[in-house]
Amino acid sequence: MQNQKQLFDLSDDVTYLNGAYMSPQLRSITEIGLQSVAKKARPDEILPKDFFIQKEILKQRFASLIEASDYKNIAIIPSVSYGIANAANNIPIKKGDEIILADEQFPSNVYIWQEIAKKNEAILKIIKSPTEFENRGKKWNKNIIEAINHKTAVIAMPHVHWADGTLFDLKAIREKTKTVQAMLIIDGTQSVGAFPFSIKEIEPDALICGGYKWLLGPYSIGMAYYSDAFNDGTPIEHNWMNRYNSEDFASLTQYENRYQEKAARYSVGESSNFVLTPMMIKAIEQLIEWQPKNIQNYCEQISKEMINKLRDLGYFIEDSQYRAHHLFGIYLPKHINSEKLKTSLKEAKIIVSFRGNAVRISCNVYNSKDDFMRLLNCFK
Ligand SMILES: Cc1ncc(COP(=O)(O)O)c(C=O)c1O
Repeated sequence: MQNQKQLFDLSDDVTYLNGAYMSPQLRSITEIGLQSVAKKARPDEILPKDFFIQKEILKQRFASLIEASDYKNIAIIPSVSYGIANAANNIPIKKGDEIILADEQFPSNVYIWQEIAKKNEAILKIIKSPTEFENRGKKWNKNIIEAINHKTAVIAMPHVHWADGTLFDLKAIREKTKTVQAMLIIDGTQSVGAFPFSIKEIEPDALICGGYKWLLGPYSIGMAYYSDAFNDGTPIEHNWMNRYNSEDFASLTQYENRYQEKAARYSVGESSNFVLTPMMIKAIEQLIEWQPKNIQNYCEQISKEMINKLRDLGYFIEDSQYRAHHLFGIYLPKHINSEKLKTSLKEAKIIVSFRGNAVRISCNVYNSKDDFMRLLNCFK
């Protein structure tokens, strides 16, 4: 895979290593967005069938990206909190059941579980990250697996941790959940698109992804997969379009108790969004063409020299087996002054994030080895 910066609208004097905050936009997607906005000026050209065609295509593309065998298990969501809430509200949880969360997740995969635990008198079990660096990722994974027991109703976690890129072995975690019939709900926002994810292989109960980071889409649209376990659930809102026969606009007041098939009931109202949907389709088509595994390889190639040099200088970066290549944390040795580092990054116009105790670096196909050499100079 080659550098693809020319396809993005990124300023040349900025070194953008912050895709985990928000991806830059492909020029082709900006173009589609502008054309789509203009279409509303001619409502006579927007036909009833247009409310349905594009969103079905979007679901098909996302199903293909994540290797889901049936696109009807996909829903279109406005945010991760929305997608997780649809799953959480449909999981049977009894008094005394345990809900396991990986520590320090993004709040959209935390607040809803606090609420569900309170409502059902269930117990939230947070699996902390190990305090020592040695084998940190390995131990964290082990602690999560060991925490799953016959009281576990659900485990809600990411594939790649948003703050420092720790990689969780979802296959092993899924195996353990199966032995106790616990559900597995994944926030894939910081991985899907840049890191391979296969529904066929991992078999989660739900996978929820925001669209504006590694899916390269616009803000306010995301994608969700709900397994067949959710086929009879109750959505958090009751949009007309998700009901059976909604394509027949003349009969909408013949109110329907039945929903469209499978996960369609969980799509947000107005999911035919005429601006965001075509943009998201184009973004996912580009990712399917590139392939997440190639994006990982590319990110590994451009970052590895800097990572080796930083380790020699005393910085901690997780073993590559337990972290992603598109998103990773750099932990500073004690003698490094983080304020000074921030100033030096700012002067060099290098954009990264500070999350928890780590400097979060997140790269993609618009970055280059030169970007990492510039970053290395600041850390030096
Ligand atoms: C892991 C993760 N999940 C979700 C989100 C966004 O959540 P929402 O779409 O609910 O705003 C972010 C944003 O940074 C994130 O890092």
